[in-house]
Parts: sequence; C-alpha cells; structure tokens
Amino acid sequence: MQTAIGTDITIAAGFLQAGELVAIPTETVYGLAANALNPAAVAKIYAAKNRPSFNPLILHLANASQITDYAVVDEMSLKLAQKFMPGPLTLLLPKKDNVPDITTAGSNKVAVRVPDQPLTLSLLSRLSFPLAAPSANPSGYISPTNAHHVMDGLHGKIPYVLDGGNTKVGLESTICEVADNHIILHRAGSVTAEELSRFSGLEVVNATNSEAATQPTTPGQLKSHYAPHTPLFIGNIPQLLQEHAGKKIAVISLDTAYIGATNFKLAPDHQLSTAASQLFATLRNIDQSNFDLILSEIFPNEGIGIAINDRISRAQFILK
Ligand code: TXA
Ligand code: MG
Repeated sequence: MQTAIGTDITIAAGFLQAGELVAIPTETVYGLAANALNPAAVAKIYAAKNRPSFNPLILHLANASQITDYAVVDEMSLKLAQKFMPGPLTLLLPKKDNVPDITTAGSNKVAVRVPDQPLTLSLLSRLSFPLAAPSANPSGYISPTNAHHVMDGLHGKIPYVLDGGNTKVGLESTICEVADNHIILHRAGSVTAEELSRFSGLEVVNATNSEAATQPTTPGQLKSHYAPHTPLFIGNIPQLLQEHAGKKIAVISLDTAYIGATNFKLAPDHQLSTAASQLFATLRNIDQSNFDLILSEIFPNEGIGIAINDRISRAQFILK
C-alpha cells in the first residue's frame, strides 16, 4: 500500500468512510483512526499497530455534546467535559450498546475525548461517526508527535497521514474516571490531578491505589510501554555517568549540560511544557543515532512534570 501525507480532510474523510485507516493529528500525539462504529475498520487498527486485542481504543468526537450518544454520563463527568473539552482529557464512562465490543476490547466502559486540533476537529465534524484512535505507533514504541514519526512506523500499512505539523502538548491525554466520591486517574497528562481536584472538589486517586479500580488495569499503564530501543536509565546523572563510564551516552535533561555525554536539553526556556512537547521526538532522535544508552534526569514532579516522569519511567530499560 502507498502511504500519502497531506492536509486534505476531504481525502481523509473519504478513506475513513470507506473503512480505511487514516493517521490524524491531535494536540497530544498523532492517532491512528478508523470508524469507531465499524468493527472491520477497527480491526485494521489492531492489525496495523500489532496491538494486543485486550487493549481498548479511545473514541474521538467532534464535540462534548456527542458523548451522550455513546456513553452514559454522570453529572460530574459532564462538568469535566464542558470544562476541559476540546482538550487533552479523556473520560472513561459506561458505554452504550452502539459502540462495538472490538472498540472497547470487550469492556463495558468506553473512553471518550474531543481533540483540540483544528484539522482533526473539522474532519470529525464532517463525519457521521466517531473515530477510534490509539496513538499512531507500532504497539510498544514511542508515540508520534509529527507526521514523519507516523511514517517511520506505519509507512505502507495505511493509505493516508493527515499532516497537522508538530503536536502542541506532546504527551498522551490524561485519562480519568469519576467514581462515587472521588476521581480515578488512569493516566497522567497535561490536565493534572491537581487541576481535576480543584475543579471538581473531589479527591483524585491514582488507578493503582484506588479500591474502585476493579476493572483490569488500563493497558496503557503496562510497565514498559513507551520504550526506545536504546536502554534508558533514570536518576542522578553524574552518578549514572560514573557507573557507565566508557559508553556512548545521551543525556536527557530539562536544561542542564553534563560533561562526558551528549546533551539533549528538552527546554532551554526552562518550561516543563516545552520539555513535554520535545520528549518523544528527542527519544526517537537519540534512538536513530548510535548511543549505547540514554540517561534521563527525573523532572520536577509538578504540573506536566508528573506526566513526563511517568513516561520516562515507562521508557526505562527492564531486563526481560
Ligand atoms: O492523547 C491521546 O489519548 C492519544 C491521541 C491519539 O488521542 N491516544 C492514545 O491512545 O494515547 P492509546 O490507545 O495509545 O492509549 C489509550 C489508553 C490505553 O492505555 C487504553 O488501554 C486506555 O486508554 N483505554 C481506552 N479505552 C479504555 C477502556 N474502555 N477501559 C480502560 N482503559 C481504556
Ligand atoms: Mg499508545
């Protein structure tokens, strides 16, 4: 199959209506989209990504008022939707019957979000169906933040990549679920637990710590999920540099240069949001150069720094 890159939403809509896959830009990372209501189209997503069949997909909608078409919405989830959508927040809700089982991997819950990306929003508003879209990378590798990253992993497997340039946020959406008297955080993102708590007045509990998290743990929370091919270690950089002396080392930091390594400062402007937007592209970059290993600082654990630390800890080298 030939894969074209372009900015034509009419072409993108045509492929999607025909049950084909199209990679789409969002404000977080690129998604690999198909008609969420067409099981045969959704099956192509799992095949193209080599995604385990137990890992459910997020429904992407044109606006928050469509959520009730596909999910049962409680009052607090509705408030969160009105406040944070379009934007990098995904809500986990009880699903309605019109959402095929393959889209939610058999779960009776469905994840929904409204991406804040102009091209994709106009594409969605043209379609008569929502788009199921996981990140547009082969399963297990780093999420793509531009159209070239998508091509690196999926070239020849999909007909079209809708090119919206570099994504703004650079890390996948926050995933949360409103429970009886608290909110379960399934994945950290740029909408922080603190923001959710301040807005809702509810305690926000990490999925792994929550008693209410009885459903199978979110597969995106598998330990090694965003791993580069080059082994990555996290911690005190001078100490790690000493331990690994003699190797060809790439160091990822907020804005510090270390002697004895090639430095990749994610945010010369010191902003954590800049670091977040650069993290995945930088990991890909390093992976394509010949480094023996990657060392990463632990980032300030506040705001989007929490999501950055979550992603680098999942990218860590684990002996298999
Ligand atoms: O920012 C994002 O959310 C991006 C863009 C493309 O929208 N999408 C994304 O999709 O990161 P994906 O599939 O790579 O990660 C979605 C996560 C998965 O870990 C999946 O297990 C979880 O959401 N998820 C989706 N539906 C779920 C469900 N019904 N129950 C539990 N977890 C669910
Ligand atoms: Mg993913």
